[in-house]
Amino acid sequence: MSDNPDQTAVVPEPGAGQTDTIVLEGVEKIYPGGTSPAVSQLDMTIKQGEIVMLIGPSGCGKTTTLKMINRLIEPTSGRILLDGKDVTHVNGDLLRRQIGYVIQQGGLFPHFTIADNIGVVPRMLGWDKQKTKERADELLHLVGLEPSTFRDRYPRQLSGGQQQRVGVARALAANPPVMLMDEPFGAIDPITRDRLQDEFLEIQRTVGKTIAFVTHDLQEAVKLGDKIAVFATGKLEQYADPETVLTRPANDFVSDFVGGGAAVRRLSLLELARLELHPIETDEKAVGNSNGTPVVEIDASGKPVSWRHLPGADASGVALVTVPISGTVYDAVDVMLDGAASLVAVVDDDGRAQGVLHWNDLVSGLRTRERDA
Ligand SMILES: Nc1ncnc2c1ncn2[C@@H]1O[C@H](COP(=O)(O)OP(=O)(O)OP(=O)(O)O)[C@@H](O)[C@H]1O
Ligand SMILES: [Mg+2]
Repeated sequence: MSDNPDQTAVVPEPGAGQTDTIVLEGVEKIYPGGTSPAVSQLDMTIKQGEIVMLIGPSGCGKTTTLKMINRLIEPTSGRILLDGKDVTHVNGDLLRRQIGYVIQQGGLFPHFTIADNIGVVPRMLGWDKQKTKERADELLHLVGLEPSTFRDRYPRQLSGGQQQRVGVARALAANPPVMLMDEPFGAIDPITRDRLQDEFLEIQRTVGKTIAFVTHDLQEAVKLGDKIAVFATGKLEQYADPETVLTRPANDFVSDFVGGGAAVRRLSLLELARLELHPIETDEKAVGNSNGTPVVEIDASGKPVSWRHLPGADASGVALVTVPISGTVYDAVDVMLDGAASLVAVVDDDGRAQGVLHWNDLVSGLRTRERDA
């Protein structure tokens, strides 16, 4: 029996069951000599396969919270459960081998090569040399560092952002089900960061890890998080999905923290597929019918190439810009601004026109959705 394990029963499907993977109950940390708690009475549950973003001002206790989960720091009081087991009663070293940890400042071993840094946990787990080496190369590739260039270098020969990426690779090395990530993309330029975020989400879709992720960047929190935990000094002020944090901040602290850019940030949460688009006509015969429907000219493959008719406007003077329906209103606005166009054709995966979004719709579109919520 035991030599024929049913793998599907052992490895839960991504997001399956939504069991509570990490549970913090009344967790408090007072550092020796500290007057007030660095973290006070924290209750928080992270479900299996969820990404929770921890955000808040410097010194509010985010790193302390992560380090209590993998017991680099012992809580002063309260309980922390991992898969239902109280982690204060298990061996800390064994615990940390099952939890990937990306340290805030890179934290690479200076006298180890990049490959050896990535291989730390696999070696502790007894992987053979070849497998460990292959895994290091695979992960370097994944985080956008050419293995042949970087594997034999030492950390001081890498930029801060490159070291951070090695830190992410190291945390992923043994494929742990739980990841704690402390500002993993903090020192990375916006373009690379955006690409890493996209890849991170793509990986997460297939591997479904349970992740606590610290960031200072609200846009990052909104983009990556299933939930956002907004901390004030030592205290959790709001714990909710991004939409709720942006539209219904729990109190003045959260609303100040979210700040004036909230309305624009929300555009990236609003999927075009959820909007009611204006109809679009692709049949040339429709031109001349003044039924208020824009008409596009399509090529042989059915893709729109130009406007044939726009009610109330000279169609030849308006650039035809398109946005995929898998995108968000944020993408649509970007395309309109970029193309100096006041409307955009929304297209499906095959490039076929699905409908039209007008610049003027933006405000009413968002209002409609708020009423629905
Ligand atoms: N080892 C320590 N001994 C004493 N106090 C500490 C220790 N580590 C952190 N603190 C204090 O605990 C509080 C929370 O620190 P923590 O590192 O958790 O903040 P953070 O939210 O991660 O901040 P940042 O965004 O700057 O990384 C701070 O006031 C800090 O000075
Ligand atoms: Mg920190």
